[in-house]
Amino acid sequence: MTLKDYAALVEDRLNELLPEAAEKTPGIDETPWLLNNAMRYSLMAGGKRLRPAMLLACADMLGASREEAMIPACALEMIHTYSLIHDDLPGMDNDTLRRGRPTNHVVFGEGQAILAGDGLLSLAVELMIGNVMAHPDNYAGGIRAMNEIVRGAGVSGMVGGQCMDLYCEREGLCDERMLSYIHMNKTARMLISPLRAAAALAGYAPESPEWKALTAYGVNFGLLFQAVDDILDVVGDEKTLGKSVGKDAAEGKLTYVALYGLEGARKRADALAGEARASLAPFGGRAAFFLDLLDSMAHRAS
Ligand code: IPE
Ligand code: IPE
Ligand code: MG
Ligand code: MG
Ligand code: MG
Repeated sequence: MTLKDYAALVEDRLNELLPEAAEKTPGIDETPWLLNNAMRYSLMAGGKRLRPAMLLACADMLGASREEAMIPACALEMIHTYSLIHDDLPGMDNDTLRRGRPTNHVVFGEGQAILAGDGLLSLAVELMIGNVMAHPDNYAGGIRAMNEIVRGAGVSGMVGGQCMDLYCEREGLCDERMLSYIHMNKTARMLISPLRAAAALAGYAPESPEWKALTAYGVNFGLLFQAVDDILDVVGDEKTLGKSVGKDAAEGKLTYVALYGLEGARKRADALAGEARASLAPFGGRAAFFLDLLDSMAHRAS
């Protein structure tokens, strides 16, 4: 299975989990059509589906149930989409283009976009709790998987990273330790969590060599992913990327390129790819998906 194959599975399941809703006054316990459709607008706008694909591929590699892994995978994509909606808000990165469409707040207004983000986050948690209850035979694995996803997205994860990203931009701060903190948390944590969630579902403990190897891959892959994101903000094509370019420098963002220059950022990305590749050794030929992913993400144009 390739990234495209996994992405197609995720696409279908997301479409079922959040179908289009007709305009009507909501009944008690019903999601308003407006909220539903604002959430759906950003969720179903494409996107690489990288995080859920990583969760499913890792579940396959470790022998976890793909059926059980599907909800945490879709929930993670919902959380990621919420992070993008909020990241684009005028009070954050103030962007007008995302996944090839006008950003959520441009279409629905700022207030509704904030709620669409909140909605995707809470729906993700609801779905994961339901999934744990539906698999009582793997209660501990399900809870631990959910814990990884929620913590990776939370205050000592993505939200924390976004906080320091904005802080450094406003304060004009540019130092290496802060950059590491930001990239590790705003980006890498949500690329480590799918791997750990799959490992938890498959019954691996945090002390196991497999868990440690996956974490090492996720850290290096995550930092590589953000390095390439920063490079693409300089050299990328807006149409291909589906989001605006040149914003980081214009806003004075603390990025790999700002700190090390374009060539320095590329060198750093190569070194990270090497580290990530080495960490896959314990999985041998079973890690083909994750080896290929390194190459395709290091050389991506979108
Ligand atoms: C963009 O993530 C935000 C970052 C963490 C750099 P992706 O590049 O995975 O965005 P989509 O999901 O494909 O739109
Ligand atoms: C955002 O990083 C990471 C998130 C948590 C959404 P960026 O601000 O660089 O992401 P893009 O470039 O807007 O996708
Ligand atoms: Mg940002
Ligand atoms: Mg942004
Ligand atoms: Mg960026």
